Formats: sequence, structure tokens, C-alpha cells
Amino acid sequence: MTAATSVARPDQVVLVVDFGAQYAQLIARRVRELRVYSEIVPHDISAAAVAKLAPTAIVLSGGPKSVNADGAPRLDPGIYELGIPILGICYGAQLLAHQLGGVVGRDDRGEYGRTTCTHDGASVLVPASVATKQTVWMSHFDAIVEAPEGFVATASTPNAPVAVLENNERKIYGVQFHPEVGHTDDGQAILGQFLHKLAGCDDNWTMGSIIDASVAAIREQVGEGKAICALSGGVDSAVAAAMVHRAIGDRLTCIYVDTGLMRLNESDQIVETFEKTQGIKLIHVSARYFTKLAGHVEPETKRKIIGEQFIRIFEEFARDLDDEEFLVQGTLYPDVIESGTKDAAKIKSHHNVGGLPDDLKFDLVEPLRNLFKDEVRKVGSELGLPDEIVLRQPFPGPGLGVRIIGEVTEEKVHVLQQADFIVREEVRNAGLERELWQAFAVLPDIRTVGVMGDERTYAHPIIIRAVTSEDAMTADWARLPYELLEKMSNRIINEVDGVNRVAYDITSKPPGTIEWE
Ligand code: XMP
Repeated sequence: MTAATSVARPDQVVLVVDFGAQYAQLIARRVRELRVYSEIVPHDISAAAVAKLAPTAIVLSGGPKSVNADGAPRLDPGIYELGIPILGICYGAQLLAHQLGGVVGRDDRGEYGRTTCTHDGASVLVPASVATKQTVWMSHFDAIVEAPEGFVATASTPNAPVAVLENNERKIYGVQFHPEVGHTDDGQAILGQFLHKLAGCDDNWTMGSIIDASVAAIREQVGEGKAICALSGGVDSAVAAAMVHRAIGDRLTCIYVDTGLMRLNESDQIVETFEKTQGIKLIHVSARYFTKLAGHVEPETKRKIIGEQFIRIFEEFARDLDDEEFLVQGTLYPDVIESGTKDAAKIKSHHNVGGLPDDLKFDLVEPLRNLFKDEVRKVGSELGLPDEIVLRQPFPGPGLGVRIIGEVTEEKVHVLQQADFIVREEVRNAGLERELWQAFAVLPDIRTVGVMGDERTYAHPIIIRAVTSEDAMTADWARLPYELLEKMSNRIINEVDGVNRVAYDITSKPPGTIEWE
């Protein structure tokens, strides 16, 4: 398989230099929310490479190191001389102060969390609309104690004498706080001021422009060729397929393998959406994995069996489609960054349903390769996909197989599907769907004693798992209202045969993981 080229990339780009992966990704997303296209680059990028990319502006991200520590990451000093507007954030601000002749020191206090920042009204970076005192989010130990020559300090906090520094002539700015974090009152206003007013970025990164540019790029790549796409039921493959369909219409065929491990009614919904509503050619393979899974209880073995089965079935169908040359995949920008930049690499390990074999003859079409998940959802809506598809919570590739502890059987899947449906329906009814990262049910490999009516029961317990998270790397158990938990519990026990007890998982990640296997 060969790499893709079908991505939308506008003329203007803002580079976010990565000094710490979580920070860089969030900044890149915030820049895009301001309708400016951004890309993340590693911190050891050379001035020549930056000049070649000709960005409209550069943002230096925060990061965990101290600029005074040995081996702390630096920026190629030539980048400061390119005349491109630069905004340093936290570590990025300290770094530019340090590299341009200022002093970064350490006192014993540092600042973490919300702090009041007072600006002096003379700032060009902090727009006039921002109150003189605003709440900002801090996370620093070091502080800039002296601004470099030619820079002025225009704001301070109790433990950061230089909370904002600026050299408007050179168009280089720094903020000690994190404007990208929601807890900073006017963070987006400051970022917007830098991008739109000081750096002159256009605000043209809109869903409409993404779709137009992607469609053009797909047409260019695929020409008169044909493409196939494996639909998983998840958001990414769905949106990728809808985008490619918009570009090449009937020359796209989708394959959907129903593993028997999907959520309740999910397969019907996929067929309905893609075949009937979107008019996409769909091969629906009904493949039950239960025989293959019989007797297997070890989580990794189960994952492997499910992954291999998927590949085998996909290959069987794909090899029959002789004249298709392109394979559509829903790879997202975070996947690209994580496999591409050093500092981001440790953040997330992927665990998708196996990889597709390399000897498949296809060229890859990856139209979402430079989009973040929230952008993918918006693009999906714009392409006419229903909310049930674009707003759905992440669902693991191996499906309910990793939520049934121990051996997976058809009977257990049936129990879990119903319980899971109730959990999700009640979360939706309570209006909490968007506040939670995931909410689902787990079926453990035990039975418990209960009493229903006058009879002793010996049946399955169900565990409810609901978490909040930004990126699934860490998560907290959701403080669901007791009334909601009560309703879920009552409904599950009354409506799902074979269940006599419901428990709520109150483990964060770490030390737990979100899924049970
Ligand atoms: P864990 O359980 O590792 O999950 O905390 C983190 C996130 O990843 C999802 N997940 C998967 N997604 N294939 C996927 O595409 C998988 O095999 C898989 N396993 C877990 C999980 O639902 C959570 O959002």
C-alpha cells in the first residue's frame, strides 16, 4: 500500500512547534477553531525547513522542561530572524526570552492553576476588550524575570513578573499562561488577536473549505479510478467514506463486516445511513465470530482473533474487486502526529483492529489525515451524516468482545447489547452525552446471587462504566447523578433477562483503563 495525498491544505499555515505533545495538539486545535489552518512540527525543525514551509505565523508550545536545564529543547535561532510573527506560550515564551537575551529564573513557588493576570493596557497582544484583570491558567515553575532587549512586559501575575512580553516591531510575543486552556478567560481572544490582527492570518479554515479542498484533492488523486472503504461503524471511517463518495460517487464501494460484536441495532443503522440515505454502494458481510472465539478467555488472544478474522474477510472481498485501485482509510491528524514526531510518540499507543496487510495492491486515500476529531465530526454533519453517527462515542475496534470478560458467547453479547443500550439511552435522556467521553456497560465473567420476587436468582451482574476525558490517555470516572444511576440500574434489571445486579465502576485512568480488557 502506498501513502495518500488526498488532503485539504490551504495556502496559509500556522506552525505549532511541539515542545510537549499535549500542549501542541491543543494549541493546534484552538488555532483551527479560529479558522486558521495549523500544523504541528517537531522542535528541532531547522530555520531552512520553516522558511520552505513559509508559515504565516509560528506558535511555540508549552513543555515540561526548564529552559535552564541541560539538554532542554531549543529552537533553531535562525527562526527568530525569518521575520515570521511568533507567539511563545509558557515554555515557548521562556525559551524565546532566554534565547533572545532575557533572563529566566526560578523562585520557590511557581504557579499552578487559576491566577489573576493584570495587564497594563499598553499591550498590543491582549486586545482592548479584555478586562485589566483576567483569570488565566498557569503551570510553571520557572518565570521570565527580565525581558530581552527590545521587549516590553505588559502584564504580570503574583509569581510571574513578565506574564506577557512583546516586541511589536519584530512581531515576537510571549505569554507565560496558557491561552489555549478553557480556564483562561480570554485565551481565544488573545490567540485570535495574535493570528488575525498581528500576524495577518485569514479566517478561511471552515468546514465548507475543508470539504471543497478535500473533494478536489481526492478527484486529483483517484482520477477515473475506483476505491473501496471498510466501514467500522465508527465516526472516522464513516466520514472518510462520505467525503470520498462526495468526490467520486458510485466509484466508491464500502465493505461493512458485521462481526456480531456490534452495539444493539448498530448494523441496521449503518446499512440505513450508507445505503439508503447516502446512496453509497455497500457490501454488508454478516460474519459471526463466535465459533472462532469459543473457549478463549485471554484478552490479547481475543483481540488477535477478532483482528485476524476482520482482515481475512476484508481481504477475501477486496481481492475479488479487481479494478479497485484505492483504499480509503479514516486516519486522523493525531495518529499522523503520534507516529511522526518524537515528543508526541509516547503519548498514545494505538490498538486498532490489526493493520491491513501490506501486500494489498491499493494506494491509500486518507482524506482526514490532517483533521482533528472535532473537525471530523463537523465535516461529517456538513456531509449530511446523522448525529447518531457523527456524535457517537469511541467504540473499540474489537467491539463488545473486549467488554465481555472471559469467553465471548452469543448469549452474553445479547445481554450486554441490551444493557449497553439502556446505559447510553439514559445518558442521552439526561442530556449528558456530550459531557462524557464514553458511557457503556461491561459484562464480567461471574454470577451473583440475588432475590427477585420470592425466588433466589443466580445471574450476571452488569458494570456501568462512564468516564470524562480529553483524549483517552487519562480519564476520570464520571460523577453521574444518583437518580440517573438508579434509573439505569432499575431498567437493566427489569428489562434485561439474566441480570440481577448492577455496579458502577469508580476507577480513574490511571490506574485503570477505560475498557476492561
Ligand atoms: P483504554 O481501555 O486503553 O482505551 O483506556 C482508551 C480508548 O481507546 C479505545 N479503545 C480502542 N479503540 N481499537 C480502537 O479503535 C481498540 O482495540 C481499542 N481498545 C480501546 C477505548 O474505547 C477508549 O476510548
